[in-house]
Amino acid sequence: TYIVTDNCIRCKYTDCVEVCPVDCFYEGENFLVINPDECIDCGVCEPECPAEAIKPDTEPGLDKWLKINADYAQSWPNITTKRDALPEAKEMDGVEGKFELYFS
Ligand code: SF4
Ligand code: F3S
Repeated sequence: TYIVTDNCIRCKYTDCVEVCPVDCFYEGENFLVINPDECIDCGVCEPECPAEAIKPDTEPGLDKWLKINADYAQSWPNITTKRDALPEAKEMDGVEGKFELYFS
């Protein structure tokens, strides 16, 4: 599966949702997640993210993010249409450790 990772937080460009053939993105206030049970591993969303936040879960060190995607996909609403990025998207792009900064 592919998953959304740290750099989506406070950017949320949403380009990814338009290309997903199975509409498996879910929207929180500050970032999106992919439902790993629905993702068919096509890979088309990965290059669409301006923040390079989408990664295959085969990359090392992403266990935490796989769980975050699986968990939040259960309660957040589905999103299939692109919206404006968050106003702070440009400043926040590339900031390290956003999850720790904003969610713990
Ligand atoms: Fe959707 Fe394909 Fe991305 Fe999975 S890899 S979230 S199926 S676009
Ligand atoms: Fe987030 Fe990138 Fe999609 S910033 S909303 S994963 S295009």
